[in-house]
Amino acid sequence: MSSRLFSRVLDVTTPGRYPRAQKWVWRRVYNVLNRFWSDGDWRFMNYGYLPFGEPFPLNADDEPERAFIGLYQQAVEGLPIGGARVLEIGSGRGGGSRYIARYHGPASMTGLDYSPDTVKRAQSLNGDTPVLTFETGDAEALPFADGSFDIIVNIESSHCYGNVPAFAREVERVLKPGGWFTFADMRPKNQLKILNDQLTVPGLELVERKNISKNVVGALDAADARKRQRIERSWFMKRFMKEFSGSRGSQLYKGLSNGQIVYEARRYRKEG
Ligand SMILES: C[S@@+](CC[C@H](N)C(=O)[O-])C[C@H]1O[C@@H](n2cnc3c(N)ncnc32)[C@H](O)[C@@H]1O
Repeated sequence: MSSRLFSRVLDVTTPGRYPRAQKWVWRRVYNVLNRFWSDGDWRFMNYGYLPFGEPFPLNADDEPERAFIGLYQQAVEGLPIGGARVLEIGSGRGGGSRYIARYHGPASMTGLDYSPDTVKRAQSLNGDTPVLTFETGDAEALPFADGSFDIIVNIESSHCYGNVPAFAREVERVLKPGGWFTFADMRPKNQLKILNDQLTVPGLELVERKNISKNVVGALDAADARKRQRIERSWFMKRFMKEFSGSRGSQLYKGLSNGQIVYEARRYRKEG
């Protein structure tokens, strides 16, 4: 894919500009990706997070995914996950939900994604994990009763949504009183105020907000060689994949490095 065509795709998918087209395009992108990237060792689709302090403990066979698991670890660190009912919205290929289910002891872990092909991939990659289930559904109209979950996790997914305020209202509805919503995603710097307004809904209180761009760039650096090797082996849309995966030199990598794109981690708590 040429740079010009790629810029057009980015343009259509910029949050808020063409909400319906944005949602449609992202769904197509993820369905296609799952058809072409069928590798059994690829459970994540995020840009990752490297902590500056001590590395968190991981089993040896999860080490290759450390950078991607890092986003989940920072999202749930210190939250009361043991015995909780946890929902991940936008669970992708399921690696993050699998990590939470295997390391943090929830009573149940549900992964939800609106791309049916992605859900099938998550089910086949993560069938080894008790308490973990995946289903198809839309972040903007969640298929769950009020107060069904204690903790909701949302990692690098909200930039695909056509209606972020509807998503935030749904999060508030399906959380139990006192429940936690932990969120991480990126936006162009000039759209952070819009994101703030979109996530501000009655009943959800913002408890913590951090700029984690440097940690994400650290993870992009750490994963660069592996991603490039994988992309070189592929015959499919190499240029698009280099941009999409945030390889060094991509628009996303440059934006996160120079501050024009900001990656934020936030925590909200439901009143009650
Ligand atoms: C960048 S991937 C991140 C996946 C996963 N959270 C991870 O970190 O590996 C974004 C995911 O959000 C999903 N998604 C996008 N829009 C959605 C919506 N409206 N409802 C549910 N899932 C959605 C996509 O299908 C995709 O799997």
